[in-house]
Amino acid sequence: MNIEKKAVKLPHFVTIENLSNDDVSALIERAEYFKHGGTPETLTNPVYSVNMFFEDSTRTHTSFEMAERKLGLTVIPFDPAHSSVKKGETLYDTLLTMDAIGLDLAVIRHKENNYYNDLIETSANQTLDIGIVNAGDGSGQHPSQCLLDMMTIHDHFGRIEGLKVAIIGDLTNSRVARSNMELLTQLGAEVYFSGPEYWYSDEFGKYGKYLPVDELVEKMDVMMLLRVQHERHDGDSNEGSFNPEEYHKKYGINEERYAKMKDDAIIMHPGPINRGVELASELVESDKSRFKVQMQNGVFMRMAMIEAVMRGRKLGGLE
Ligand code: CP
Repeated sequence: MNIEKKAVKLPHFVTIENLSNDDVSALIERAEYFKHGGTPETLTNPVYSVNMFFEDSTRTHTSFEMAERKLGLTVIPFDPAHSSVKKGETLYDTLLTMDAIGLDLAVIRHKENNYYNDLIETSANQTLDIGIVNAGDGSGQHPSQCLLDMMTIHDHFGRIEGLKVAIIGDLTNSRVARSNMELLTQLGAEVYFSGPEYWYSDEFGKYGKYLPVDELVEKMDVMMLLRVQHERHDGDSNEGSFNPEEYHKKYGINEERYAKMKDDAIIMHPGPINRGVELASELVESDKSRFKVQMQNGVFMRMAMIEAVMRGRKLGGLE
C-alpha cells in the first residue's frame, strides 16, 4: 500500500534546521513525483514570485525560475544591479515594496548570513507579508542545494542512513557544507571531512572526523567536493599562495583516486566546478559523477520547496 506522506507546509523556507526527518522524506518523495512526470496541483488563483539574487548564480537562479514556471507561478523580473538597492534602499524596504506591489513569494540570495531574520521576525509596527525562500545566505545555509543533494544520494542508494559521506575542500566558506553536514548527521549518515586543514575548523568536529583524502577515497559511499570559493577569500592568508595544480594533486579527484573508489560510490559537486582543481575535467561527466543529476534534481526539489511555502501560506488555493 502506498501511504502518502504528510505534505510539508511552511510560511518561509530559509533553513534546513527546523525540518524533521519526515519532512525531508516527504520533500524527496514530492520531488521524485515531479521528476517522474507528476503534475502540480492546478492553482485556483494567480501566485506571483520574484527571484532576488544579490550574489551571482547560474544554477540556483535558473532552477528556481524553472521550478516556479512548472508550478504555474507568474515570475516578475528583478535586477539588483538596476534596482533602488543601488540608491541605498534596505533589503526590508525592498521586500516591503514587493509585498505592496502584490508579490506572494521572494526567492533571495544574499551575502549576509541570516539576512532573512529581519524579514520573517518582524516587529509589531511592521506589516511585511511575503513568503521568503532562501537561495543561499553568505556562509550560512543553502537549503535547496542541501535538499537536492539528499535527493540525489537517496536516488542512488535508496537511503541516507548509514552511508559514509566525505565533504572535501573549502569548508570554512561553504554554506553547502554547513547545511549538508547538519542534515546528513540528522538523517544518520556518517560524515567525514577532508581538504586543506586550514579550512577545517574544530566546530565541524561534532559532525565528523577530519582525515586525509587518500584515507577516505576507498571507504566512502559519497565523495562530496566543494568549490574553492576565491571570491570569499579576502583576508585568507592562504589565498596568495594557492596553487590549483597542487590543490588537485593533494585533494582533488583524479583518475587514480577515481579508480580506488568503491564500485557503487558517487562523486558530488554543487557547482560551479573549478575543472582540474576539485575534479579532473574528464571526470565531470563520468559514471560515478552525479554533477548533472544534481542540477536536474534541483528543479524538482525546488518545486517541492516552493509548493511547501505555497501550502503554508495557502497561496493559489493550495493547503
Ligand atoms: N550550487 C550553486 O549554488 O550554484 P550557483 O551559484 O550557480 O547557483
